[in-house]
Parts: sequence; C-alpha cells; structure tokens
Amino acid sequence: MNVLIIGSGGREHSLAWAIAKSPVISHLYCSPGNGGIEKVADCIDLNFQDHKEIIRFCQSTNITFVIIGPEDPLVNGLADDLRQAGIKVFGPSKAASALEGSKGFTKDLCRKYDIPTANYARFDNPGHARSYVERHPLPIVIKADGLAAGKGVTIAMSRDEANEAIDDCFGGRFGQAGAEVVIEECLVGEEASFFVLTDGETILPLATAQDHKRAFDGDKGPNTGGMGAYSPAPVMTGAMCRRTLDEIVKPTIEAMNELGIPFQGVLYAGLMITEEGPKLIEYNVRFGDPECQVLMLRLKSDILPALIATNDKTLDHIELEWRQQTALTVVMAARGYPGAYEKGSLITGLEGLERPEVQVFHAGTLRDDEGIKANGGRVLNITALGDTVREARDLAYDTIEQINWPEGFNRNDIGWRAIKGEENAA
Ligand code: AMP
Ligand code: GLY
Repeated sequence: MNVLIIGSGGREHSLAWAIAKSPVISHLYCSPGNGGIEKVADCIDLNFQDHKEIIRFCQSTNITFVIIGPEDPLVNGLADDLRQAGIKVFGPSKAASALEGSKGFTKDLCRKYDIPTANYARFDNPGHARSYVERHPLPIVIKADGLAAGKGVTIAMSRDEANEAIDDCFGGRFGQAGAEVVIEECLVGEEASFFVLTDGETILPLATAQDHKRAFDGDKGPNTGGMGAYSPAPVMTGAMCRRTLDEIVKPTIEAMNELGIPFQGVLYAGLMITEEGPKLIEYNVRFGDPECQVLMLRLKSDILPALIATNDKTLDHIELEWRQQTALTVVMAARGYPGAYEKGSLITGLEGLERPEVQVFHAGTLRDDEGIKANGGRVLNITALGDTVREARDLAYDTIEQINWPEGFNRNDIGWRAIKGEENAA
C-alpha cells in the first residue's frame, strides 16, 4: 500500500518512523516532511490548501491512504475532500473537527451531555465579556474560540490581564479565531493527556501522557506547543482512565453520532485531574506533538492497520500491544522560541545516536549539502525508553550531551513531577 503523511513536525516523523516498519507499506510519502523524515519517506512539497493538488498527487502515485498530522488541514476539510475522491483517510471530517476548531462548540457539547469541564460562557462582544470577568473570581481563563496555534489561551491573574486578553482577541490578534471568546473557570489539579482511536463506534484507548507546555525549567516562561512529554502519566491510574472513558470520551463520541457528525480518527483529551475527578480542558482531533513521539516509541504493534481501521470502521478487530516501560522526550528548540528565532544554524553529532531505546525525531529541520540545519522553533525531539521515568530521562539527556547545536536550548527538568513521585514511592 502507498501511504501519504501530511505534516512536518516531530509528530509526523514519529508516525513515519513507525509506519515505515509496517509490512503493509510499499511506498511512504510525506508532505512537506523534514530533514529527518527524509530518511524513512519520500518528502514532497504539496500545497495543503490545494486539496485538488493533493488528490491529483495521490491518484498519480497510487496512494490509497492519507494520514493527516496537524489540525489545520482537518479543520479545513481535507479529510472530506480526500474521502470524496475515494481515498482513505486517518482524521476526522471538517464538521467533526469542530471538537478542536471551536472551543465554544466543545463547551456547549459538554454542557448538553453533562461532560465534566470548567464552567464557562461564550461571547461575541467585548463589553459583555468584560462585565462577565467583573462578576467572576480570579484567576479566570480567556480563550480565543478558534485555532490559534496554542497561543489563544490566557490564564489571567488580574482583571486587567483578563481585559487585555479580551481586547487582544476581539482586536484581531488571532484573526477570525478570536472573533468569539470563551471565558472559563480556572481548574486546579494535575494535567494529563488521554488518547483514543475511534471509528465512531469502537473506542480503542491508546495510552496516557503528560506534556510540559512552558518554555523554561520549573514550568516558567511562556506557553509553547510542548517542550517535552512522557508516557504513561502516573496520575492516569487504571481507575482514572476508566472514569475518563466513561464520563468524558464515550459520551462525546455518542454525542457526535447523535449530532450526525461521527468522529473518526484520534481523539486527544487534554484533562485536568481535579479533586472531583477528571475534567476536560480541551479536545484535539489529532495526535499531540510531542506526545505522539512517546506513544510511538512505546507501541509494539504495527500502528498502520489501526489507523486504517478508524476509516474503515473495523476498529473492533484491532488490538495494540504496548511496552510497559516509560518513554520520555525532550524538545530541543531554537533560542528565542516561542518568540522570534533564527533559522539555518548547523546541528552536528546526530549520527549513530539511534538504538532501540533512543530515537531522535526531527521537527523543524532541513538537510542540505552541509548537513542538518534548524528550520523551525521546535527542532529535535530526543526520545528514550526506560524502566523508570528517571532512567528514560537520563538516557534522553545523555543523548543530548552528544548533540552539538549552540543555537538551541532545551528544558532540563522534563519528567520532574513523575520522578518526584518515583522518589517518594521509593
Ligand atoms: P488549551 O489550548 O485549551 O489546551 O489551553 C492551553 C493550556 O492552558 C492548557 O494546557 C492548560 O495548561 C491551560 N488551561 C486551559 N484551560 C484551563 C482551565 N480552565 N483551567 C486551568 N488551566 C487551563
Ligand atoms: N503538545 C500539545 C499539543 O499537541 O497540542
């Protein structure tokens, strides 16, 4: 089978790495790909916006299955157009992608179907939003309704900060995505991510993970797309996973069916584990980045048949086997990220690092005559397996020692919370 992966991040590299090993694969393509994906797939530059161009490419190269990595093409309906052309897809329809594409849609769905989440209100007018903030306790969370590349959320500690965030949204900082605003109660607890595959009927839980959203050690600094992750997340005990499935994920999948917009693909629930139990912070309709990297390293089974089964509605035939070990990934980013950063610096020392317990997944890289160069904000994901979180972390950081990239930085405390837990238990 010929397969195309859409995307260029560490998520897509880890998917390409996992899928390239599948006996089902004849030829693997990725668009646009990156300097690392090149090693396992044919990278081609297709215009995401131009669905006809992608369909033509698939038809001319006999690609029968497309995996859509990022949220933008999903929210723009790429999955619908490919399916219309008879091409199988991993990823939800445009309508079902509203679970990520509109925070207001998801909040209303939670309210209607009694799914635990933060209390909220929706606004299309700054005056009403400000007056809501006046009447509710701090901290308070202000969110642009639409896709804002992870930058549309402000946890405001003061009313001034809240009002500034409201003005930013309505002032056009996030374009159309900020034309509507969701304001919600600030949840307290530990965050975790829970992933399931679904074909709309069967729900196949994958694994749990924990991300590190802030740029600097000690969870300080600005929010990023994620500076590191590990799987499993110890806070997600068997009982907590069952509650998440029963109270949040299953009712959502059923609600989507009832609304006539069945969800097919991976549903990523961003959770707050509160004193009352799991509450939904947000849904994503694609794999997390860098969470996907740790999931792929832990997965023993071939992921490709499972991804296809979400399209074919045959997920009830799929079983996946996981390593019991912990996988941990550390993101190396360009200095300045998530703000302005330079591109084009040379990265050396990458040869010979990979072994069964270590994979270096590329994100923003490109390969030219001189070697691998930085070409984005998040650049490399150093990913390792260990019997404990500490072991996985030590292996990831030992690997980083061997990489020479003065223009990059990374957090030095990925996994700190789980390691503290391991130490307390010992
Ligand atoms: P989101 O883009 O909705 O995932 O929000 C980004 C981050 O903001 C989340 O990962 C949380 O750390 C934080 N966050 C969002 N909503 C809330 C909330 N209601 N209470 C506390 N933290 C939140
Ligand atoms: N790492 C967070 C995300 O992929 O949304």
